[in-house]
Amino acid sequence: MPALINGKTLATRLREELGQQVSRLRERHGITPGLAVILVGEDPASQVYVRNKATQACEAGMASFESRLANRVTQAELLELIKRLNRDPRVHGILVQLPLPSQVSQAQVIRAIAPDKDIDGFHPLNVGLMATGNPSLVPCTPLACLLLLKHQLGELSGRHAVVLGRSNIVGKPLASLLLREHCTVTVAHSRTDNLAALCRQADILVAAMGRPGLVRGDWIKPGATVIDVGINRVAEEGRTRLVGDVDFASASQVAGAITPVPGGVGPMTIACLLLNTLHAACRQHGVPVPDDILSRAWGDAATSPA
Ligand code: GUN
Repeated sequence: MPALINGKTLATRLREELGQQVSRLRERHGITPGLAVILVGEDPASQVYVRNKATQACEAGMASFESRLANRVTQAELLELIKRLNRDPRVHGILVQLPLPSQVSQAQVIRAIAPDKDIDGFHPLNVGLMATGNPSLVPCTPLACLLLLKHQLGELSGRHAVVLGRSNIVGKPLASLLLREHCTVTVAHSRTDNLAALCRQADILVAAMGRPGLVRGDWIKPGATVIDVGINRVAEEGRTRLVGDVDFASASQVAGAITPVPGGVGPMTIACLLLNTLHAACRQHGVPVPDDILSRAWGDAATSPA
């Protein structure tokens, strides 16, 4: 059997460590990191994500500010709320849960968030800083994947990573982070020819295409490390079940290590959001960022040009 990469346990450990850092920040500097989450509409999955983010922020000793807006909210109303949160000194991180309804421009909303409060790392300034190997806020799901890979493999240099999916939230930023770690990176997507043969070349395979069970055991090089970012709700015998983009039963016969769904990338993503909020708070107050694991969130290592 392959090693199971237990995201739930690692996330619990990271959250405990963050909780200690938050206490220290409050005792020494009188700062309580604050996370503001905006949810538009009533999508059940988004409601669960937002509730989990707020609860875990509170458990780590952070302040949590939640705004719920009706699905018919106008762009001007949403931008006004973001402006208010940008100015609010109690708020160090702002997250607008995606997707947004069609009357609102996602690009304009992301651009309205102050870059130093952009704990999703989606603002074009942060995207550009990360792509050029400069310190920036880094998107949470790719950061979660990177921390899981480093935990499992240690040094990533020289490994061939195949990233399935080219979204702005996962695939593209993860490719930047893996390049910075000196991986050889291939980004593949739904129009890539012969996905299976390409995947079989991967030492590290990350599945983020939103296609349930796409990656089967015969797509995987024996011993490869497989990270499953997919969270797909499938109906089965009158109930819904969460499944990843990887067919766990067959993949786990071949992989060297694999993340489960649920309990893999998901819990680490929320822990990384808290990590980014702590970093943002430190940066905004000119306080040194606490320690080595935490400094990874800002990508302090520069990419070598070679
Ligand atoms: N919706 C799905 N993933 C994400 C994410 O990482 N950030 C935000 N803001 N919305 C999402």
